[in-house]
Amino acid sequence: MSTTLEPEGDYDGVPSYRYDNTTGGSVLSHHRRWDELAATHDGFRSSVSHGFWVITNGPEIQRALQDWEAFSSKSVTALDPDPKFLWIPEMLDPPLHSRWRRLLGREFSPNAVAAREAEIRAVATGMIDRLSGSGGADVLDTFARRFPTQIFLRLMGLPEEELDVFLEWVHEILHLSYEQDPDRSRQLAAITAVSDYFQEQIALRRTAPKDDLLSRVMTWEIDGEPISDRDLHAFCVLMFNAGLDTVPIAVGWALYHFASHPGQRAAIVADPSLIPTAVEEILRVYSFVVPARKATRDVEVGGCPVKADEMVMLPLVVSNRDPERYANPTEVDLDRTTSNHIAFGSGPHRCLGSHLARLELNVAMQEWHRRIPDYRIAEGQDLEQTGNMYGLTSLRLEW
Ligand code: HEM
Repeated sequence: MSTTLEPEGDYDGVPSYRYDNTTGGSVLSHHRRWDELAATHDGFRSSVSHGFWVITNGPEIQRALQDWEAFSSKSVTALDPDPKFLWIPEMLDPPLHSRWRRLLGREFSPNAVAAREAEIRAVATGMIDRLSGSGGADVLDTFARRFPTQIFLRLMGLPEEELDVFLEWVHEILHLSYEQDPDRSRQLAAITAVSDYFQEQIALRRTAPKDDLLSRVMTWEIDGEPISDRDLHAFCVLMFNAGLDTVPIAVGWALYHFASHPGQRAAIVADPSLIPTAVEEILRVYSFVVPARKATRDVEVGGCPVKADEMVMLPLVVSNRDPERYANPTEVDLDRTTSNHIAFGSGPHRCLGSHLARLELNVAMQEWHRRIPDYRIAEGQDLEQTGNMYGLTSLRLEW
């Protein structure tokens, strides 16, 4: 993918491009294209599909994420302004959103997450031990995707035997290219399967509650009303979408980074106390989530005259690689002392799972480098990225 975009013209006084965020590309091509756009624009219009606004000014992105009254989460995908589904809590606005977050916050608090550390470490070390003697592997398939998905199943109280089925569903729903699934039938079949699966799991717990997150959520009340099966289902589907692909993508970028920066790899192997900073820097530099919001009224942001009901794309990567905010913004700096990045978002919808994600990433980096300190990207390995979240499709390493 070329990083340069040709302007198409002008839309309400703002430049317009045929900007498509969802195409594949070579490694980091999306990040570099955002750098280039942010250097020359505060915002622009994309003419793709029904059209939407794209904000490329770091502080303005953060302002919009925090201003939930003007920028609603009724839709969080720029290409789909009127979704036929609801994800809870992601697509709720305050005050209902705040009620869900207050209840969910306890389950994902720093203390609740820290209580799981030994278990999380045991899962990671088991998987890395099995890999360490093999001399090489696709580390996305054998580790980066399996480890957090197994933790997710435990957290939700779902059977661990379902791990491979879950990995397959994530692949079919989130990773297929247009060529692999031109009419989206594979994606739809997997979405239906996940939906049926969660319906079944909810029904099972209604008759026989367990000691797990799903059973606990069933006992909560919102505004004095018990939570309906429909809302429970919307919560499960959101957890699947928000919790399953994100840590794998971040682990993939971390292993890619340290395979291609042997000096920094040697530094974290020699001094593991650098790992927490390394994790924050990977999250910042390789930021991969691109939220969007729907304007509730006419409002200006990033110099764009947004009208009520129009969609606004808010790429976190622009804030996180903003030269006004960070010196050497595109470099992973193991000595950096500022950690105010917004890779987990900003405002009321800031990631509920951030403490869990941070712990998983730190554990993954510590245990990986303790066991496999020296590794490189396999020769002939193609590196590509695809989708609305910028993750590698495969990463074959040798050690
Ligand atoms: C490196 C890993 C992760 C990253 C970078 C990440 C990033 C994000 C971002 C940017 C948002 C806000 C989206 C928006 O404003 O529209 C978000 C929301 C959310 N994330 Fe994460 N996430 C990660 C891992 C997780 C995990 C492991 C879980 C749970 C198991 C999780 C659960 C959620 C939930 C439930 C929301 C919705 C919160 C709300 O709407 O109030 N995330 N995440």
